Amino acid sequence: MNNVYIAPSILSANFAKLGEEVADVERGGADWLHVDVMDGHFVPNLTFGPLVMQAIAPLTKLPLDVHLMIENPEQYIPAFAGAEAHLITVHQEACIHLHRVLHLIKEHGVKAGVAINPGTPAAAIREVLEDVDLVLVMTVNPGFGGQAFIQSTLRKIRELKAWKNELGLKDLRIEVDGGISASTAPLVVEAGADVLVAGNAVFGQADRRKAMEDIRKSLAG
Ligand code: DX5
Ligand code: ZN
Repeated sequence: MNNVYIAPSILSANFAKLGEEVADVERGGADWLHVDVMDGHFVPNLTFGPLVMQAIAPLTKLPLDVHLMIENPEQYIPAFAGAEAHLITVHQEACIHLHRVLHLIKEHGVKAGVAINPGTPAAAIREVLEDVDLVLVMTVNPGFGGQAFIQSTLRKIRELKAWKNELGLKDLRIEVDGGISASTAPLVVEAGADVLVAGNAVFGQADRRKAMEDIRKSLAG
């Protein structure tokens, strides 16, 4: 199995001191930094765009894991690629021409990911598994931090893990996002996840290093 990565989501950070917040999780042992972009259409919330990412990028060595919860994501791929995204994930539900959009991401020299909402079956992304570096299984309905983990998503993680093995996609990462904490992390990792996004469970805690260690310890036992 791949090493399990922890990707704190800056959605739960203090935006008034974002630079310090990013440095804090980098020092505390984060593997990636998860950047939640919302447009108020695809999800009922608004966050930020490439300008804020451009401000963060020079402050950290952490790979920027960009989660686009927006309509027409293809329009913004050049801007996020230019803002030093390491990986750009688009939602299957937002892309009529999903295969084309994923290849557009790669043409910009960025790794490509595809996300599915809790109500979307894994089969909706079956045909593009060989075209992506990562699949993102939403374990809450996207839009807000601090929501409760949806247990039924475990079935989909298992299904995707089985397809990954069948197709021999050794390097494909399976990311989960929403309600991940030291209590739910062992469940998703057992099912096959190897990138854990955590907003509230990391940025919501005073000691971020300890918060990430607690998640890692929960996987050891
Ligand atoms: C939800 C976002 C998540 C969010 C997770 O729409 O995509 O990345 O920040 O937050 P927690 O970990 O608090 O559920
Ligand atoms: Zn996210």
